[in-house]
Amino acid sequence: CGIVGYIGKRDVAPLLLEGLQRLEYRGYDSAGIALHASGKAGGLKAAKAKGRVRELEARLPKRFNGTAGIAHTRWATHGAPNDVNAHPHLDAQEKVAVVHNGIIDNAAELRDKLTAEGFVLVSDTDTEVLAHLVARSEAATLEEKVREAVRHVEGTYGIAVLHADFPDRIVVARNGSPVVLGIGEKEMFVSSDVAALVSHTRQVVTLDDGEMATLKADDYRTYTTEGSSTSARPTTVEWEAESYDMGGHDTYMHKEIHEQAEAVDRALRGRIDDRFSTVHLGGLNLDAREARAVRRVKILGCGTSYHAGMIGAQMIEELARIPADAEPASEFRYRNPVVDPDTLYIAVSQSGETYDVLAAVQELKRKGARVLGLVNVVGSAIARETDGGIYVHAGPEVCVVSTKCFTNMVVAFGLFALHLGRTRDLSVADGKRIIEGLRRLPAQIEEILANEAQIEKLAAEYADAKSMMFIGRVRGYPVAREASLKLKEVSYIHAEAYPASELKHGPLALIEPAMPTVAIVPDDDLLEKNRAALEEIKARSGRILAVAHQEQEKADHTIVVPKNEDELDPILMGIPLQLLAYYTAKAMGRDIDKPRNLAKSVTVE
Ligand code: G6P
Repeated sequence: CGIVGYIGKRDVAPLLLEGLQRLEYRGYDSAGIALHASGKAGGLKAAKAKGRVRELEARLPKRFNGTAGIAHTRWATHGAPNDVNAHPHLDAQEKVAVVHNGIIDNAAELRDKLTAEGFVLVSDTDTEVLAHLVARSEAATLEEKVREAVRHVEGTYGIAVLHADFPDRIVVARNGSPVVLGIGEKEMFVSSDVAALVSHTRQVVTLDDGEMATLKADDYRTYTTEGSSTSARPTTVEWEAESYDMGGHDTYMHKEIHEQAEAVDRALRGRIDDRFSTVHLGGLNLDAREARAVRRVKILGCGTSYHAGMIGAQMIEELARIPADAEPASEFRYRNPVVDPDTLYIAVSQSGETYDVLAAVQELKRKGARVLGLVNVVGSAIARETDGGIYVHAGPEVCVVSTKCFTNMVVAFGLFALHLGRTRDLSVADGKRIIEGLRRLPAQIEEILANEAQIEKLAAEYADAKSMMFIGRVRGYPVAREASLKLKEVSYIHAEAYPASELKHGPLALIEPAMPTVAIVPDDDLLEKNRAALEEIKARSGRILAVAHQEQEKADHTIVVPKNEDELDPILMGIPLQLLAYYTAKAMGRDIDKPRNLAKSVTVE
């Protein structure tokens, strides 16, 4: 979900709509705005609509003016997406309006309590209780009212509150869901994401958990939920406003796929140390002795980031010879894992705020583990919660499905594996070989993207499939997993991913002409084994699309990708399949940047 708020001199509704559009990738099943109405009557006015921001825009009342307001775009958790459940939520007297990200765990209890006191709750959401709690407070100031309300709440929140009796301010609070203030010239902004701020200001203040803030047109102050002042200082956002624009592409997905050569270049910049055939990772906070003491590496992430972690684990095993594996963060935290002091944990996340990952990090920290972050968003919750880490520097990613960030994560894992390897048994020569391989990546990515027309044609050829199989072996297997996820997410075609060797143990039963197979066939020591799998499929009259370093005789079609070092091949082999997913979805007329039912950042459990 996304929050945006503004207080200043400008007409607020258009500003909030623009902000919501910037945040739409975070949730898009309903949206709403509340503002302090200008004019004598004053008071709060609100408008909400199920669906996209443009539907809200169409529905705004004629006279909907003011210079202070808050807005929200939602990804439903409690209650179906409809007008009533859309934020902002107001109390019955329409004195208070609240927008909220996160989940209130004791909402049911609070609803019962409020109902027993005679309050009428109209929505199915957990958020609505907050509006009533603020409204019912008898405290003198809005700050005190909000403080009193959040004291009742268990769970996570990032909230922004308007009150009809306090038209000169917005009060915000954070516990577990991001809240960022944007500091302007005689105007202030607030958002859950810098994406909505950067076109207005690059001076931001990120609130900590347990922190609140009061925004007035020409001033802001921060303090804890207990009331003592804090001294949050503005920092400057690195990302340019333009990087949030579509820049001539038809979708963000297409744009972001095409940004990968540049993004990888950025991830490598300033990090390679040719003298010692290693890399410098400034924020790692892990000296050579500590690196040598690591006995295992455990990587935690969700979705695409988990797949990047699977490749990362293989790279660490191969280059540093340390046992490593990846696991979905949510599975990890719910199985009461054995937390081992000699294991290095790595939390991998584009947004740096995925709740399941953050909660796993917090659990690990409680148990005294050493946790590093591999994160894209600088200063995000996971980046701050971990002991050190590696920024992946992919730049902002707006399409809900991840492409360039995935690639940069894998590159960052490559750097880390090289670094760990060079503190242990990886030779100078091998270090050099990997460095040279890393340096070849941007040009090789360009080469793959130059082949776009072929992939577009192939997508048209395979778009009639009801179901697709993706196979790979060892280095190719996580590539197959990610490619199948990408296809599912954007085209809604059912896809499965299996290790190629597992085919004969069951899934081969599915193979028939209507179920094509995408096979990852790198030119490494497993080439012959992979060819055998293609034979097995062909013998059952399955159609095959291979991604390989050379034409595959058994395949109906081959996408040939440039060869890198064996260990780095997985970075490149998935890229044509991002395009395959994109063009398949396009041929099917899908909403590529905002697939149904999904959201970019899942900040709830
Ligand atoms: C959501 C997105 C996925 C993403 C996952 C992890 O489910 O839809 O595309 O891979 O979250 O996000 P993160 O920001 O932690 O990488």
